[in-house]
Amino acid sequence: MCKATLSIVVLISGSGSNLQALIDDLSKQPIKAEIKAVISNKADAFGLQRAENAGIPGIFIDHNEFPDRTSFDQAMISKIDAYNPDLVVLAGFMRILSNDFVNHYSGRLINIHPSLLPHFKGLNTHQRALDAKHKRHGASVHFVSNELDGGPVIAQIEVTVKANDNAESLRLKVIKQEHIIYPQVVRWFAEHRLSLQDQVIYFDQQLMQQPVVLKPETA
Ligand code: GRF
Repeated sequence: MCKATLSIVVLISGSGSNLQALIDDLSKQPIKAEIKAVISNKADAFGLQRAENAGIPGIFIDHNEFPDRTSFDQAMISKIDAYNPDLVVLAGFMRILSNDFVNHYSGRLINIHPSLLPHFKGLNTHQRALDAKHKRHGASVHFVSNELDGGPVIAQIEVTVKANDNAESLRLKVIKQEHIIYPQVVRWFAEHRLSLQDQVIYFDQQLMQQPVVLKPETA
């Protein structure tokens, strides 16, 4: 049976390099997926420019114009649902989402986080990995749950922490791998290989016991 094209909405707040990686991947591979819209809570997010360059509608919603998180999230839901997405991709979206938002998109809301979860939830992950003297660091793609950076992890990719690394060198190493892992996970969605039931991931109809660990690109 020929399955429909996966409709994606991407939420950003900044540079949007992960968005660019998704745009590039979808343009060069025969993937049945389409980014229908990019939504930013920052007017000057460079990701909006990237969307425009790719001919994708870019929408700015200013969270400062809403009295509280609930009303902002409701406005976001209205905008997002106008595109009827099968998948909502958080790509550097720097707002905590309400439980109502997360529940509304349960099973079709994913995030990329710059650490090997469950290590270093939250911010400043690269410095914290250095401070903790971890030898391995990386990125994780996970379903979003009501716990910050706490949903079931789909895939991870590792980098080696070297003695001369600092937070910026680590960030650069990790984000390069993010640009590999996020498109890969989106491809799995487009191939209808991933689902979430009762906070448990199924991959090819099999219960996923642990995240897929992808090989880093070393070139
Ligand atoms: C990435 O490091 C991602 O892991 C985190 O936010 C950053 C977004 O970067 N969630 P970009 O906007 O995709 O360049």
